[in-house]
Amino acid sequence: MIGLGLIGCGNWGFNYLNTLNSIPEAKILTVCDLNDDVLKKVKQFHPHLKTTKDCQDLLKDDELSGVIIATPPHTHFSIAVNCLERNKAVLVEKPITLSYSEAAELITLAQKKNTLLMAGHLMEYHPVVMKLHEYVSQEILGKLRYILLDRTSLARIRSDVLWDLAVHDVSIVRYLVNKNPVWVAAQGKSFLQDGIHDLITISMEFPDDLYVQIHANSLYPQKKRQTVVAGNKLVAILDDTRDDFKLTLLPYNGDITLPNLEKIPPLTVQCKHFIHCIQSDSVPRTGFGDITWVMKVMDLIEQSLLNNGSRRYFTKPGGDHDEN
Ligand SMILES: NC(=O)c1ccc[n+]([C@@H]2O[C@H](COP(=O)([O-])OP(=O)(O)OC[C@H]3O[C@@H](n4cnc5c(N)ncnc54)[C@H](O)[C@@H]3O)[C@@H](O)[C@H]2O)c1
Repeated sequence: MIGLGLIGCGNWGFNYLNTLNSIPEAKILTVCDLNDDVLKKVKQFHPHLKTTKDCQDLLKDDELSGVIIATPPHTHFSIAVNCLERNKAVLVEKPITLSYSEAAELITLAQKKNTLLMAGHLMEYHPVVMKLHEYVSQEILGKLRYILLDRTSLARIRSDVLWDLAVHDVSIVRYLVNKNPVWVAAQGKSFLQDGIHDLITISMEFPDDLYVQIHANSLYPQKKRQTVVAGNKLVAILDDTRDDFKLTLLPYNGDITLPNLEKIPPLTVQCKHFIHCIQSDSVPRTGFGDITWVMKVMDLIEQSLLNNGSRRYFTKPGGDHDEN
């Protein structure tokens, strides 16, 4: 049985606690959070767990092979450094860090320590996204033409929509396309607070004329979670706001298909993968390569936003080149 620690037990961290309770191969043994009320709530629902406000306490515990970090994004880097220094396998929630250079530093440290580092790129563990990946790799949709991703909601707490929502879609694109884009361009708007984007549109061009567009908006009163993958034979539509029939296959002419898919929560799939990688000493799907790609694209998006939406080319070092 694998012993795990959890650092950060707010809204999302609590989901980890509940999810891991249903996985027999591993157990969360200790929870660390800075907030006393959070720790009281943890004790109330899970009295057997150890709790602490000091992450060094948790990291000293040799019974813990791995640590899950679910604190706010600006704290991920320093907490992950502490965990890797202590040779713990680490699963860091999205976004793994808030810059490409910090993510690269974590990878270098994990390589030096020969330790597992995995990003919580949840959508890559979503059973319907995994099905889409199968359709794409088996060319069931035909030659890909475009992918459109839409993620909207009315956020209670303002945080940059790029790092909060759009990062999910960037990781979906990485997983489905599995190629480097030629260029990336992005435009954003801040309506409520300077410097915090509420709305963003990202365009990406890939080799073989594949076009990708991501729209994320946290000032939209309706929740949308849609991914459209269009090939020259079929168009697949994932609507993640639906309970049933999340996936629709539309031919250009002919009958619509509604594949029936297994209903496993993506967080369960993600946690099981982390545990499996610890047990078998194997490389996680959302490990170094995936983290590097996603964070490089995030970096190019930020550069484009700072440069009036101009194209940033993937292969140029630092992406410091535009079409003008
Ligand atoms: N994958 C998803 O779909 C998804 C959904 C929601 C949130 N998240 C991610 O999960 C993370 C947490 O988000 P949340 O909504 O739960 O935030 P939250 O604010 O509800 O919870 C964060 C918790 O971390 C604690 N904390 C802060 N700094 C700490 C530190 N240095 N040491 C220990 N504890 C600390 C806070 O007290 C709080 O309880 C973020 O990275 C967020 O992007 C992912």
